[in-house]
Amino acid sequence: MSNYHIKHLEEYYQIYRKSIREPENFWEEIAEEHFLWRKKWNNVLSWDFSKPEIKWFEGAELNITENCLDRHLATRGDKTAILFEPNNPDETSEHISYRQLYERVNQMAHVLKNQGVKKGDRVCIYVPMIPELAVSILACARIGAIHSVVFAGFSSKALSTRINDSDCKLVITADGSYRGDKTIDLKGIVDEALNDCDSVKSVLVIKRIHSEITMKAGRDFWLQPLLDNAPKDGKAEIMKAEDPLFILYTSGSTGKPKGMVHTTAGYMVYTAYTFKNVFQYKENDVYWCTADIGWITGHSYIVYGPLCNGATTVMFEGVPSYPDFGRFWDIVQKYKITQFYTAPTAIRALAKQGTELIEQYDLSSLKVLGSVGEPINEEAWHWYNDNVGKRKSPIIDSWWQTETGGIMITPLPYVTPTKPTYATLPFIGVQPCIMDENGEELKGNQVDGRLCIKFPWPSIARTIWGNHQRYKDTYFSAYKNMYFTGDGALRDEVGYYRITGRVDDVIIVSGHNLGTAPIEDAINEHPAVSESAIVGFPHDIKGNALYGYVTLKESGESRDHTNLRKEINQIITEHVGPIAKLDKIQFTAGLPKTRSGKIMRRILRKIAEKDTSNLGDISTLLNPECVQDIIDEAL
Ligand code: WT7
Repeated sequence: MSNYHIKHLEEYYQIYRKSIREPENFWEEIAEEHFLWRKKWNNVLSWDFSKPEIKWFEGAELNITENCLDRHLATRGDKTAILFEPNNPDETSEHISYRQLYERVNQMAHVLKNQGVKKGDRVCIYVPMIPELAVSILACARIGAIHSVVFAGFSSKALSTRINDSDCKLVITADGSYRGDKTIDLKGIVDEALNDCDSVKSVLVIKRIHSEITMKAGRDFWLQPLLDNAPKDGKAEIMKAEDPLFILYTSGSTGKPKGMVHTTAGYMVYTAYTFKNVFQYKENDVYWCTADIGWITGHSYIVYGPLCNGATTVMFEGVPSYPDFGRFWDIVQKYKITQFYTAPTAIRALAKQGTELIEQYDLSSLKVLGSVGEPINEEAWHWYNDNVGKRKSPIIDSWWQTETGGIMITPLPYVTPTKPTYATLPFIGVQPCIMDENGEELKGNQVDGRLCIKFPWPSIARTIWGNHQRYKDTYFSAYKNMYFTGDGALRDEVGYYRITGRVDDVIIVSGHNLGTAPIEDAINEHPAVSESAIVGFPHDIKGNALYGYVTLKESGESRDHTNLRKEINQIITEHVGPIAKLDKIQFTAGLPKTRSGKIMRRILRKIAEKDTSNLGDISTLLNPECVQDIIDEAL
């Protein structure tokens, strides 16, 4: 029996029990046998959730890129590491071998060094889904710079906030990006953002769409000529186990995004080990995760996890609807994809198209179907199972978070019997529990409450960049000595977990985590707006859509509402990004508030859901009279 590759349910239980009984021995064995270390650790784990402080493999030295690249050169040098499928299907795809990737990463690492980037410096990567994105990430890791990837669909304001929060020294971007039949002026967005960013000394620009852009002398450099002169070999910086590897921002309950910090050794071990087992990856498989590398899913399961295992990982630049809704299936057929990992929102959008397109393609290569990002509803689960998997590929409903770094609760394909809408069982080493609102653990099965994790796993985020107190307050203060996930969950009669959704002010729209506060802050910047409150309401494809309640200043009351709605969505697009646009905007005279002045979102949520039969006791509100008006005028 190999602890690294779990093949049967009994094996899962056996290894799981071991990982809980003796976590340090367990993880030490995994780390020892399957990775390349420059120096071994002195201590496997030290932790204290009350501080909170978590350290894995202390004393060890390594470079994650030696694990992703160098060690494969001898045996997999010519194997495809990254398979790039461009937005336009008529453009040729790119097969980048492990050797070529190694060379490109070294060249990029030299360019970064020549720009003065040193170990510990922060580099912002604002690049679309093209190979240079993965190359940039790995080049940072190679020289010990901390990468901060910002999803290249975010606005200039969202970009500058993130650059400033971690004082990035350099930005890597592209002239523009393709998105279906549209192009996006990325460099223009960067230029605007940099008006507010003093820390940035240089900008490296990748040529992708060959658009006319302005280059600021002394600051902006075309990347290709610099790469052409750089050597294809180079030494990797030796990193300590707990040196930060990257920062990735996630939105929270205040306006400021949280820069989650992931460190080197634990993150590597956990993402590699989960990748191997959750996707049951075998040497000649072709694995495709449709996420953008701008999110944690892409960091862990397009770049680091697959490359650490010497896998072939697909990077797709485009969108599922271009040139038509058959695109995903076309790619599956073309590359004989074996593992396909996507989000429920994509599944619902594709399901809406019917099955005609899907029937034109040969999907028989598929062995494993993954789902991530939000709860998958039963209808979408069955559509995925029947039409994509033809009822022979298990669906892996994997629950995890930016903060957890890797997959936490999930079936293992061909190992764990699946159940629609259930993420099923904890991954090896993960100790979930369900808590009630009074802080008591709900033991046994058939319980419903809030999901916490009792014990550290190797890839848990170690802090929030520049704000350890916020890290403690957000994740370790709701329940004593527990990591609180922010999700509700239930455990059924056999011990399977089902994630029921967020219990805080985060709304998941099309699989994207949106905090209500940053959106409200943006709306409130409109000169005609007095106050606003955002809630989610159910949407067929997006899962949730956003409903905004807006009160106007006197000066705004005479304004045309159609124009105002457009302007509000425009401000949101500028401040947060187009994903945060509101589907419905209701102008109202007042918002229901508690006596301490807190907006009662619970009531607004019910109204948005058109479920006003039981609003609870509203008599204690500061202004109960406004509730009926809001109901009468609801959209
Ligand atoms: C939140 C984390 C980590 C992957 C991308 C999202 C929700 C994620 C599932 C799932 C039900 C899920 C949770 C979680 N979520 N996967 N399989 N079933 N809910 O990362 O943006 O940090 O969002 O996404 O609410 O807390 P993220």
